Amino acid sequence: MNKIYLIIVCLFLIKLDVHSQGHIIPEPVATTWHEGYFLITPQTTIITNDDKEQRDLGTLLNSYLKQSTGYSLKKANTNRHSKSIRLLINKKSDTSIGDEGYHLTVASNTVYIKANKPAGLFYGIQTLVQLLPVQSMSLAAHNEPYKIPAVTITDYPRFKWRGLMLDVCRHFFTVQDVKKLIDEMVRYKYNLLHLHLSDDQGWRIEIKSLPELTKTGAWRVPRTGLWWDRQPPQPGEKATEGGFYTQDQIKDIIRYASEKNVQVMPEIDVPGHSLAAIASYPYLSCTKMNYGVNPGSKFYGVDDDALCAGNDSTYAFLEKVFTEIAALFPFEYIHVGGDECYKGFWKNCPVCQHCMQVNGLKNEEELQSYFIKRVEKILQSKGKKLMGWDEILEGGLPPDASVMSWRGMQGGIEAVKQKHHVVMSPAKYCYFDLYQGDPAAEPPTYSMLRLKDVYSFEPVPTGIDANYILGGQGNLWTESVPTFRHAEYMLWPRAVALSEVLWSPKDKLNWNGFVNKLEIHLRLFDIAGINYAKSFYDAIIIPSETTDSSLQLQFDTEIKGLQIYYTFDNTFPDQFSTLYKKTDGKIGIPKDAETLRVITFRQGKPIGKMITVPLADLEKRIKKK
Ligand code: ACM
Ligand code: ZN
Repeated sequence: MNKIYLIIVCLFLIKLDVHSQGHIIPEPVATTWHEGYFLITPQTTIITNDDKEQRDLGTLLNSYLKQSTGYSLKKANTNRHSKSIRLLINKKSDTSIGDEGYHLTVASNTVYIKANKPAGLFYGIQTLVQLLPVQSMSLAAHNEPYKIPAVTITDYPRFKWRGLMLDVCRHFFTVQDVKKLIDEMVRYKYNLLHLHLSDDQGWRIEIKSLPELTKTGAWRVPRTGLWWDRQPPQPGEKATEGGFYTQDQIKDIIRYASEKNVQVMPEIDVPGHSLAAIASYPYLSCTKMNYGVNPGSKFYGVDDDALCAGNDSTYAFLEKVFTEIAALFPFEYIHVGGDECYKGFWKNCPVCQHCMQVNGLKNEEELQSYFIKRVEKILQSKGKKLMGWDEILEGGLPPDASVMSWRGMQGGIEAVKQKHHVVMSPAKYCYFDLYQGDPAAEPPTYSMLRLKDVYSFEPVPTGIDANYILGGQGNLWTESVPTFRHAEYMLWPRAVALSEVLWSPKDKLNWNGFVNKLEIHLRLFDIAGINYAKSFYDAIIIPSETTDSSLQLQFDTEIKGLQIYYTFDNTFPDQFSTLYKKTDGKIGIPKDAETLRVITFRQGKPIGKMITVPLADLEKRIKKK
């Protein structure tokens, strides 16, 4: 009896060990672990057919494996090799996995990735690379055998639009940065890069027929302080900060992205957010004033950053811009912004008012709608579809426009009701420029979006036709993101969480399981030198007021298994300080205390950041609510 018990326990442990290999993100549709493993050795061969696209995928796999094994594996196009990794395109399409899905089989002799399209092989490769044990991913650990656990996986995405947006206007990022972002995002099976290419603070793409856009519009006076608090351009001051992509560089980015199954969507944000264009060509605004490109100072409603919507010369300008944009970007959509347009100058502009009268437009919202509809006609004449932020609903959507819903889900819901396609990107779940931990312990930015909230995002609201939801997208606005290193900090790991929401079946999402996998991935980020935030380990401080208006505090954590220690006596808390227990509920503040310090521990070691915050600031947070 005892022996049988022992055998059962051993089998259970073996099985546990096998399962502990599973840290694939995003979680595949179906995974079955088997016993045994495939060992990568210098003799392992990568087999593809002779097609260039597939040979390139073989080369990509080789380069990924080389990063961890150091081996340059042989490549072949015959089946005679045992111990091989084979990439196969299905002769007869397997409709269950679509264009981006794949089947991956790892057995002791062979690894197979089968797909209908190269995109599926590409994602099978991403999954395969994640199966390598983490400890072997560092070349320093060269004594580790490169074992891939035996498994069969069937996988395909929930959504076809899995996007990330990078704002290259508020801060400019180099071609090299953009390529690095592409490399990082495809590991998590993102397939769309949205480049926000024009705004009040910079025009970032060469338009050959409009040279001032990059001669003037790409440059602003240098400033470093807090965004929105910066000094406006001073008379005679040189605009030396900024940059732009030449058309050759854009082609290079598009080619690089397409090799990794990423489409690039350009955004030219009009009619608002257009100060850089207006600084280049003052005839574009209603007031025709000369402005400098904005360096991060307040100007909304003061400087006229909207294109004059009544003037035909505005549309002639846009015709030129979109002719070149449409010729450069193969993607079917062009994003035309449409968000946050200040319409005050339109109210006082005789040209805009005349246009409204002639066209029977009742208000400025209808004038914006007229503007976007004219832009849609321009795009359609170039064979492109229009996408805009959800403000394009105001005054009526153009007939074939698609909507990117950012102020919430409501714009998206309304657009679906009108039978338009939608990408869900609500700020509450998808804006990676927001705080991800306590503001007292993070670089300054806006409101709050914690990792756990990203993971709770559901892109399809109940009661609407899900077929109109193309997918979702995370957006990184860069007002407070001056470097690519910090862009990584803001993106990761929140974009890892979103990747699972956008790829994996809804019923596979599991927060605790995700966190366990994520912690393994973060070791890979460390090895790869990619920056990321550890804010999800930090304590959450929840201030509130008693009935007699005294401050009281509650603490929480995003993940389980952490202990919270705090002090009010101006000393650093550690595991010998007061431990906060859930049953403590709301705690009062000792008389005359001024400062809270709080830190999280796990298994006797500090894991979260020490958060130091004046109690007066916590009181202000309550008042703000
Ligand atoms: C936006 O965040 N203004 C689209
Ligand atoms: Zn006007």
